[in-house]
Amino acid sequence: LNAAIRAVVRIASSCGIEVIGFHHGWRGVVDGESAPLTRNETKGLLQSGGTILRTARYHPDENEGGAQAVVDTIEKERLSGLIVIGGDGTLNSASHLASLGTPIVGIPKTIDNDVSGTRRCIGFDTAVATAADAIDRVHTTGESHDRLMVVEVMGRTVGWLAVCAGIAAGADAVCLPEVPTDLDALAASIRRRHDAGSTSSVVVVAEGACVVPSPQCEVSAGARISAGLAERTGYETRLTVLGHVQRGGPPTASDRLLATSFGVAALDAARDGQFGTMVSVHDDMIKLVPLGAVGAGPRPVPDSLVVLARRLTVS
Ligand code: F6P
Repeated sequence: LNAAIRAVVRIASSCGIEVIGFHHGWRGVVDGESAPLTRNETKGLLQSGGTILRTARYHPDENEGGAQAVVDTIEKERLSGLIVIGGDGTLNSASHLASLGTPIVGIPKTIDNDVSGTRRCIGFDTAVATAADAIDRVHTTGESHDRLMVVEVMGRTVGWLAVCAGIAAGADAVCLPEVPTDLDALAASIRRRHDAGSTSSVVVVAEGACVVPSPQCEVSAGARISAGLAERTGYETRLTVLGHVQRGGPPTASDRLLATSFGVAALDAARDGQFGTMVSVHDDMIKLVPLGAVGAGPRPVPDSLVVLARRLTVS
């Protein structure tokens, strides 16, 4: 987020446009919690992850009076436009408000990479690099101890992070929300792999992976798969849940470039009055799409990537 905020402010100041930043996402717009953003505040931001504006999981359209409060803030602050940076939830609220006439340009940002209407979201590349690095390390210790290692990564509804980090780190199996994982079949495949000479395996699981048979109790997909494979194979098994380490730290160069390009394109769109739009990646180009595109729901991993993962693993 910081790299995108920096780009917006830099380009705006070079065009004589004033920028104010709202704190804590939509909540700050509703409460009118804001401060001017100048080049000074955004100096040195390119390398730092997260957001100097802070964030919150809050959706104005789902809260009584929220949408009207956004309109009131825009009027009170005499804003000509609002640039909204966020994932599925944030941008769906943006789309709803834009359909009521609020002047909004969206920027897709989520490590889940699941916003419809764009091929890439800010943060995904960094999360993949972080998860792949962690899986590499799990590989090493798993090999030393002859263990079956299960690594759970984020991704409640889609498996972009699991499939990309899994392939990049040479996982032996990948379990996704998009494709059911049959525990008996997976255990049999891992057994065959070990019968053929392997002494350890790494299974990467998206937190929302679909598992059959489905769990009797409320456990995470990683815990379910880890316990299920240990029981079926008899191999010594360990589970690592990566959690929020995947969502912090300095962004990769590729994410900085994407965030900067999105920030510049969003500012240009707002300056030209092209509201109700979202910046996006299409055919490796930055393009504007209607904000309503996000309404198609979380964008699943395409079959081609699922097939690629299948060909490279035992899953
Ligand atoms: O929406 C992004 C995401 O990183 C999901 O992959 C994950 O399930 C969720 O956020 C975790 O959210 P929180 O930090 O609110 O627990």
